[in-house]
Amino acid sequence: SELNSFFALTLILNPNVKFFRHEIVGVVTEVGANVTKFKTGDNVGVGCLVGSCGSCDNCTEGMENYCPKLIQTYGFKYYDGTITCGGYSDHMVCDEGFVIRIPDNLPMDAAAPLLCAGITVYSPMKYHGLDKPGMHIGVVGLGGLGHVGVKFAKAMGCKVTVISTSEGKRDEAINRLGADTFLVSRDPKQVKDAMGTMDGIIDTVSATHPLLPLLGLLKQKGILVMVGAPVKPLELPVLPLIFERKMVVGSLIGGIKETQEMMDMAAKHNITADIELISADYVNTAMERLEKADVRYRFVIDVANTLKPSPNL
Ligand SMILES: *[C@@H]1O[C@H](CO)[C@@H](O)[C@H](O)[C@H]1NC(C)=O
Ligand SMILES: *[C@@H]1O[C@H](CO)[C@@H](O)[C@H](O)[C@H]1NC(C)=O
Ligand SMILES: *[C@@H]1O[C@H](CO)[C@@H](O)[C@H](O)[C@H]1NC(C)=O
Ligand SMILES: [Zn+2]
Repeated sequence: SELNSFFALTLILNPNVKFFRHEIVGVVTEVGANVTKFKTGDNVGVGCLVGSCGSCDNCTEGMENYCPKLIQTYGFKYYDGTITCGGYSDHMVCDEGFVIRIPDNLPMDAAAPLLCAGITVYSPMKYHGLDKPGMHIGVVGLGGLGHVGVKFAKAMGCKVTVISTSEGKRDEAINRLGADTFLVSRDPKQVKDAMGTMDGIIDTVSATHPLLPLLGLLKQKGILVMVGAPVKPLELPVLPLIFERKMVVGSLIGGIKETQEMMDMAAKHNITADIELISADYVNTAMERLEKADVRYRFVIDVANTLKPSPNL
């Protein structure tokens, strides 16, 4: 079955991974003969995946994101042999099995980044049971992933501590994003005071960084989830794993069913990403600003010019 749809918006991901253009939202303009989930006029989105084998264990368990034959939304070979182009077009055709409904109360532009950033933090929290009210969750790095991590963890009823290398983002973390506490990972006193207090930590940092202070912050059996992607191997301190059964795990986006669950939870709790909406002719400047990490926290491109870009651009 096939879904023809006009996609109005697109998003550029993170400065280090420019080849992922896969947080796309739009309005359905046409549906194929066998489409049952969507109709013309629906607000929808497409995340990182547009295809998978549909029959392996990963697929049948709703984890298409781990299918060995997954087709990513950008730069992968589609069933017909063409290369997927992500959101860089004013319309898109997608199998309905990979389309996410965007609930009406969510603004389309600010919901778009949830299709990758949102599910990337949501999926491991659910999978590892780090979603229980009263739990203490650390979020390392306050960028595209980290800022939505804070919002989801708060919506789950957790106590949230933002962990950063400098004091610079304290005000942002606490007063704007609603984190409960802020901790500077390079300050031994602050780390010492919070030792052994966290049930889980979501680490979104893609630069090389020490894991020892983070493992120290975890309670016994605590889980450190790596969702940033450092290019160089990190040093893994093993003793905290042995003596306190702590775990270091990784996680890759999420399946389609849980991406929909994430989007529905976002709608229920009014969670969106913080974005700067731009028009297509601002893209070159946006790219330069991305190099300098000068965006809070995602640019969203209004490809079809259907929304109103920020007045200052
Ligand atoms: C719709 O489903 C029927 C029955 O499964 C199939 O024969 C047909 O090819 C499908 N059409 C499209 C456009 O996928
Ligand atoms: C599930 O995904 C993993 C990672 O892509 C892969 O190694 C494994 O073979 C997959 N399982 C099946 C049954 O295909
Ligand atoms: C939802 O969040 C947006 C942006 O943060 C805010 O402007 C709006 O007032 C919120 N709506 C509700 C119902 O809380
Ligand atoms: Zn599969």
